[in-house]
Amino acid sequence: MKLYSLFPKGFWRRAKLATSAQTIQPGDPTLPQHVAIIMDGNGRWARKRDLPRTFGHEAGLKKVREITEECGRLGIPYLTLFAFSTENWKRPAQEVSYLMNLFYQSLQQVTAELHSQRVRIRFLGMIDGLPAKLRTMVKEVEAQTAANRGLNLNLAINYGGRSELVQAVRQLVKEAQEQSFAPEEITEERLAGYLFTAGQPDPDLLIRTSGEQRISNFLLWQTAYTEFYFTDTLWPDFGPAEFREALLAYKKRSRRFGGIKEGRVK
Ligand code: FPP
Repeated sequence: MKLYSLFPKGFWRRAKLATSAQTIQPGDPTLPQHVAIIMDGNGRWARKRDLPRTFGHEAGLKKVREITEECGRLGIPYLTLFAFSTENWKRPAQEVSYLMNLFYQSLQQVTAELHSQRVRIRFLGMIDGLPAKLRTMVKEVEAQTAANRGLNLNLAINYGGRSELVQAVRQLVKEAQEQSFAPEEITEERLAGYLFTAGQPDPDLLIRTSGEQRISNFLLWQTAYTEFYFTDTLWPDFGPAEFREALLAYKKRSRRFGGIKEGRVK
């Protein structure tokens, strides 16, 4: 009889997750300072259970809370979550409207709690394209939490990397016209100053759930040297234990940013 057949299904995976949980310590300086997540697989999670897709989004929201809390506990200063892309408007109107309501209601429910935990909430994306009620809420939440110095939580809603770059270039050109500076004076730093993430560090780690391995127009500029972690787990099944597993994987990466490993000459 094979040894592993003595154990219930999922035993070894749970044991591995429990081990990784123990090896990640809060405040570890080798943890990523900025984690970005493409929360994918809500629809498939619901379909597997013969439920409407909206149930998947509801279940996904619970994980947003869990992972946000875990980042706070571990002292990871920046977390960016991709909640709705500029391309997601192509979904059935009913699903889009469900998601907009979910964003509104969840912000209404959790902002006070996050605010008391000193979480600063910012939104990345074309906020003017959101329904008026949500737009107002977004501005209020940003203003209410602006002075907080705890976790920086970025929610990407109506976000697209290409449109972010286009709006940045437009502002840069306007600035160039008004202050008449030469094209040579346009630098990476100057352009980055017009991105939605201006002033924030680039993500060190990007996690995408559900088995897809693509960037889907997310943080195109900011992920130039980000480490990627892909998992087959669907977002509503992705909890703090697997999050810590992703952090462990990150800790083992060798980041060279185009250079060579320190001390190595050949
Ligand atoms: C992708 O899964 C998920 C989304 C487009 C929505 C994600 C939104 C949430 C988890 C709620 C977050 C709420 C706040 C306030 C941040 P999918 O629907 O594309 O899944 P599929 O690929 O299996 O169909």
